[in-house]
Amino acid sequence: MIKSPTRTPIPNRFKGKVALVTGGTNGIGHAIALELLREGASVAVTGLPADAEAGRAAFAAAGFSPLILAGDMADEKFCRSLVADVLAKFGRIDCLVNNAFSFIAKGLEATREDFERSFNVGPFAFALLTQLVAEPMKKNGGGAIVNVSSISAWIAQPNRWTYNTAKGAVAQLTRCAALDLVPYKVRVNSVSPGWIWTREVDKAANNDRATWDPIWGQFHMLARMGHPIEIAGPVLFLLSDDASFITGTDLPVDGGYNGLGPEGLGQTAKIAGTK
Ligand SMILES: NC(=O)c1ccc[n+]([C@@H]2O[C@H](COP(=O)([O-])OP(=O)(O)OC[C@H]3O[C@@H](n4cnc5c(N)ncnc54)[C@H](O)[C@@H]3O)[C@@H](O)[C@H]2O)c1
Repeated sequence: MIKSPTRTPIPNRFKGKVALVTGGTNGIGHAIALELLREGASVAVTGLPADAEAGRAAFAAAGFSPLILAGDMADEKFCRSLVADVLAKFGRIDCLVNNAFSFIAKGLEATREDFERSFNVGPFAFALLTQLVAEPMKKNGGGAIVNVSSISAWIAQPNRWTYNTAKGAVAQLTRCAALDLVPYKVRVNSVSPGWIWTREVDKAANNDRATWDPIWGQFHMLARMGHPIEIAGPVLFLLSDDASFITGTDLPVDGGYNGLGPEGLGQTAKIAGTK
């Protein structure tokens, strides 16, 4: 049985703040939205229509009822209307988490449509939402944006031209937007998760975490996979005033994936009891 760690929220850290989390009905986005709610923020989340009801039920089970806006981030009209809806309901936006992404993973066989879908859901929507929230954030004294990137932004992986180029674009968007939003008092950063137990990964593991955690865990110094809650804490840190001197950069939240050399874990895996 692979257990997710728990996290103790910092009470009222985001009280009075309004946060928009895309892809907040499931997985990493859901954990981020829930922790923001537990720390006092008013939260709006988006999700694909097929995920909206389950997302609502999961929030309700935790005692929360955020604004849930169902739609496709590749749809520019939806992106524009969702920012308008959040402003209409809450009157402000202080935090934006660009998280929803397309998982299309194709290489030599990738079509133009595959690339278009990957970029439309990913960096193009990230950029559009950033443009749309800049002025409202400025009006209320500034804000913070976190883009959910990936280890895949920084390395080569087989058959991943679509996903990895879209994540790579997020890295440059983060830097360029951070620079241009300085006059708006808006900081822009990204996080790059390692392998995290969410539904796509569960699917690939045939829902057998006990078997696959030690196998895929070997890609990380910590010799295990990560959990959505372990991404939420670092994202909330970057959104908070504690990160007031951090902008235009990426925080790897990858259990040491990115620093691991070709020798792999060596003795560490034995010590961790996973080999
Ligand atoms: N799970 C991992 O191992 C991992 C690793 C690195 C980075 N990431 C990144 O984390 C983010 C979240 O991934 P996850 O694993 O939690 O996924 P998930 O499938 O658990 O959840 C994805 C969420 O995004 C929403 N979504 C997906 N496509 C959408 C679209 N076109 N329009 C609107 N909403 C959409 C879904 O409804 C859902 O709420 C993504 O940016 C992903 O690239 C995940």
